[in-house]
Amino acid sequence: MNIGILGAATVGQALARHLAAAGHHVTVANSRGPESLRDLAAQLGSRVTAGTVAEALDSPVVILGVPWTKVRDVLTPEIDWDRRVLVDATNIFTRYAPDFEVDDLGAESGSEIVARLAPSARVVKAFNTLPIERMFAPPPTDGLQRILFVAGDDADATAIVEQLIADMHLAPVSVGALGSGGRLMQLGGSLSGLELFGAGVARDEGEQRRPEG
Ligand SMILES: NC(=O)c1ccc[n+]([C@@H]2O[C@H](COP(=O)([O-])OP(=O)(O)OC[C@H]3O[C@@H](n4cnc5c(N)ncnc54)[C@H](OP(=O)(O)O)[C@@H]3O)[C@@H](O)[C@H]2O)c1
Repeated sequence: MNIGILGAATVGQALARHLAAAGHHVTVANSRGPESLRDLAAQLGSRVTAGTVAEALDSPVVILGVPWTKVRDVLTPEIDWDRRVLVDATNIFTRYAPDFEVDDLGAESGSEIVARLAPSARVVKAFNTLPIERMFAPPPTDGLQRILFVAGDDADATAIVEQLIADMHLAPVSVGALGSGGRLMQLGGSLSGLELFGAGVARDEGEQRRPEG
């Protein structure tokens, strides 16, 4: 599957690397243009391409991996999402370490705001509840898979993201609709930072050690 990733920092790089290792074709983009990402893309794998934001958006699945404070710059009203899947991996920080600050969204959740900014997209919340280094760390015991939560209103879109998670040897668990599930997953929600494991699928050792083929 072709996947666009907006943002090429910790989240964008890790997802690009692991999705490409699973056989997907990934276009990564940032605000500075493809030239700034060419070397990085080459390091992330042969199926990873540096692109413009427009090129990354031209994918059936687009992952939003930018700072929360930049979401409105990226999800501009002229984008026609045409029911493409938009995966919201953001956390609602307005400031990172050492002086963490979380946005006050009132009654709204971050993903509902994302869905409002991308009205014709099918928004799925995923990849935000654990630090990336935890998400892709080897499980504590052989035979376990790390659980990743998923929330969304469209069953087909949610299933697509669940499959991408499974492709990366993680275990997807759906936690319901974007509003209710997304609230549980966002900062301050009961699933934020929660690390759980389920029974995994057997993999050969070489595959576990080498994410990119
Ligand atoms: N780090 C984690 O472990 C983790 C885990 C789960 C979720 N998250 C969430 O995932 C998101 C990404 O986090 P991160 O740690 O990878 O890095 P980040 O510092 O939040 O994001 C930086 C990336 O976003 C790009 N970016 C900024 N403005 C942009 C724009 N207007 N258009 C396109 N790209 C733009 C930056 O590119 P430029 O260099 O061009 O500015 C850079 O590649 C955040 O919302 C974060 O809260 C992070």
